[in-house]
Amino acid sequence: MSRLYDRADIYDLIDSDQRTDTIRRDWREFLDEREIHTMLDVSIGTGSMTLPLQELGIEISGSDLSEAMLDRCKKKASAKGTSVELKCCDFRDLSCWAGREFDCVVSTGNALGYVNNSDVVLTLGKMDSLVKPGGFLCFDSRNWEMIQKEKQRFYFYNPFFRDGNRINLVQVWDHHADGSITFNLLYSFEKDNRVFQREIFEELYHPFRINLALDKMKEMGYDNIAIEPVPCFSEQRDFSKIDWYRVIGQKTAC
Ligand SMILES: C[S@@+](CC[C@H](N)C(=O)[O-])C[C@H]1O[C@@H](n2cnc3c(N)ncnc32)[C@H](O)[C@@H]1O
Repeated sequence: MSRLYDRADIYDLIDSDQRTDTIRRDWREFLDEREIHTMLDVSIGTGSMTLPLQELGIEISGSDLSEAMLDRCKKKASAKGTSVELKCCDFRDLSCWAGREFDCVVSTGNALGYVNNSDVVLTLGKMDSLVKPGGFLCFDSRNWEMIQKEKQRFYFYNPFFRDGNRINLVQVWDHHADGSITFNLLYSFEKDNRVFQREIFEELYHPFRINLALDKMKEMGYDNIAIEPVPCFSEQRDFSKIDWYRVIGQKTAC
């Protein structure tokens, strides 16, 4: 079975101008008055979550484990007439960025759950080493506590249309005894009411409690910690019902 992140073309099918506008609005409202001019995304993928920030005047840099995702990210930036500094690395070892500092270091796209809980803590420490004094550390995640409590299994997307084809995406989640969850991503491509292509991917996640990350951030001296739904203008404010959340905290200034 091919890996989703080797198929950046399929991963990005969900992209649209409307989604990009929503992502940009979400960031604009979420970042609010925070002084952020440079941002490093350590799971930038194809850049769908962070390239839209370039239009807000933020200089974006990124790294990711997948060359295919980075390659697509680079092409997307150049298609917009911009550029983005990219490196291929695991976020558990960010030494490729050693000596650099950013106003904000972020992990986008629910990526921290790819590694086990102790590596989530390790990764937050590595991210912190690249945050300027007074800067920000930020990540987004699915609300694993809610998913595990409800043993949610199915996640549906609205169909989308590309090149005259209708594309359906459904996720089926297998909950394992050790607490890990396999996401099965099922794509079907339809034309004239016939499915002519199917693509199936499996991704293994390691759910973590939000407090694991918050405790680490506090231990590292982060303050002014905010937790918001994604997008932040969602009406749902009850954390136990929020599907996806984002956390940001500010590093001590000196
Ligand atoms: C769901 S995608 C999100 C990509 C991008 N942030 C976005 O929103 O489009 C998750 C990304 O995390 C990356 N990833 C997974 N494990 C990683 C790791 N250990 N280090 C760095 N990147 C990782 C994958 O290659 C993939 O690009």
